[in-house]
Amino acid sequence: MSSTHIPILILGATGYIGGSVLSRLLAHSDAKSFEITALIRSVEKAECLRGFGVKTVVGSTDDVEKLETLASHAHIVFSVVSTDDLPAIQAADKQGYLKSYIILHSLVYGMASGPFVDLGIQNPFSMQIPGLIMAAFDRGHVGMFGKGLLIWPSVHIDDAANLYLILFDAVLANPEKVGHGREGYFFVENGEHTWYDLSKAIGGPFVKAGLSKDSEPTTLTDEELIKYTGSVEIGHKMGSNVRCHANCARGLGWKPTKTNKDMFDNLSLEVSALLNIVQAKQQKAST
Ligand SMILES: NC(=O)c1ccc[n+]([C@@H]2O[C@H](COP(=O)([O-])OP(=O)(O)OC[C@H]3O[C@@H](n4cnc5c(N)ncnc54)[C@H](OP(=O)(O)O)[C@@H]3O)[C@@H](O)[C@H]2O)c1
Repeated sequence: MSSTHIPILILGATGYIGGSVLSRLLAHSDAKSFEITALIRSVEKAECLRGFGVKTVVGSTDDVEKLETLASHAHIVFSVVSTDDLPAIQAADKQGYLKSYIILHSLVYGMASGPFVDLGIQNPFSMQIPGLIMAAFDRGHVGMFGKGLLIWPSVHIDDAANLYLILFDAVLANPEKVGHGREGYFFVENGEHTWYDLSKAIGGPFVKAGLSKDSEPTTLTDEELIKYTGSVEIGHKMGSNVRCHANCARGLGWKPTKTNKDMFDNLSLEVSALLNIVQAKQQKAST
């Protein structure tokens, strides 16, 4: 590594959010001065990423020793892997000189795009909306959390990924100016929706595609919450009230461009993309 290069470690580079961050890092005007290393679980994906000039280490965040070594060589770590992986977070933090900047996502929507998606090495799908769509395929009718009255904030994947780069640029330009630690929490949202409105909007493309006769969502039972979210508790959490304002992000100059209208308008694309995957799997299983 040349002394003029900034060593950067990225965790979760093949993920929906992480891949969108990595593609932006590689397109950054100063990209030539970055030395990016990605910890990747798949040998094939690691090899593919090397073609983009990304150094790769094959392994998992479960290997805390490996992670500590990688983190100790990096000046900047993008951790876009599990938000609940405490040992992995501590492996960045152990030596006590870490400045942490925590990006707190709301519901991230839209299909990710870019070179890694095109090559099939990045997950293009988010969590909540695809989860509701897949559940609707299974039960033949769109479901919703509770009566659908509670509210969540949302943000488009491109706007969410752009914030990482805006924060990165701000920290590189003047770290003293950007709050970190307790002051370094950045909520991400550009609008709110009720779960009813979201489920109802998913119901529309379902009826159009002939997958359901009725677009009116029905409440997911406890058994269905276990089946589709893993537990009743997780299901209740997902259908809860979550409200925030992205004041700190906007204070950095972040200007999200996509709104809830984009989220609702593009649901049919996501329904057909997921339907294609389900049908291809069914066809493979039957041959
Ligand atoms: N998407 C949302 O709407 C949303 C909203 C709020 C919070 N979040 C949080 O943001 C984080 C990233 O979300 P995402 O949607 O980008 O998830 P994702 O598409 O599933 O990506 C997860 C990434 O982490 C990698 N990974 C998982 N476990 C790993 C391990 N043990 N060692 C090394 N790499 C590992 C995956 O690698 P593989 O390719 O090997 O699987 C993948 O690159 C998650 O913690 C999620 O809970 C997401």
